[in-house]
Amino acid sequence: MTKINVTVDGVSYVDEVEPRLLLVHYLREVVGKTGTPIGCDTSNCGACTVLMDGMSVKSCSVLAVQADGAEITTIEGLATNGEWHPLQKAFNAEHALQCGYCTPGMILAAADLLRDNPHPADKEIREGLEGNLCRCTGYENIVRAVRSAAQAGAGR
Ligand code: FES
Ligand code: FES
Repeated sequence: MTKINVTVDGVSYVDEVEPRLLLVHYLREVVGKTGTPIGCDTSNCGACTVLMDGMSVKSCSVLAVQADGAEITTIEGLATNGEWHPLQKAFNAEHALQCGYCTPGMILAAADLLRDNPHPADKEIREGLEGNLCRCTGYENIVRAVRSAAQAGAGR
């Protein structure tokens, strides 16, 4: 077992974990952040995306021990004082989800995208989210939501 100290959604956790434990399993099963779903076992779908020190990572392709000392943001930590993040508001307003399974990962990948590029063209939004798959929406409303959130200043 290896001791790790990870900050998740602003709260510090110290835990003993097996070196092979994946970050997504640590978040869901140890920390209880079940808002981070698992959508595949091939690192393809992006449903498990979280921010690690501000950069989006697929948490099924990161070991929990690699997050030692890091700050993790999950979908559950994105709101501020009970108010949704602009991306959450935009996904809601633009009907950018149906089943919602891909949504946490989409929103966190988009947060990383807008941090690097606050005013992306639609093509850049599509490229930025190409690691995140959605089986329901056809992507049009997702792109519209990210564009709307950018216009609302989500990337600043
Ligand atoms: S569950 Fe991580 S990429 Fe699919
Ligand atoms: S809303 Fe169902 S997978 Fe995207």
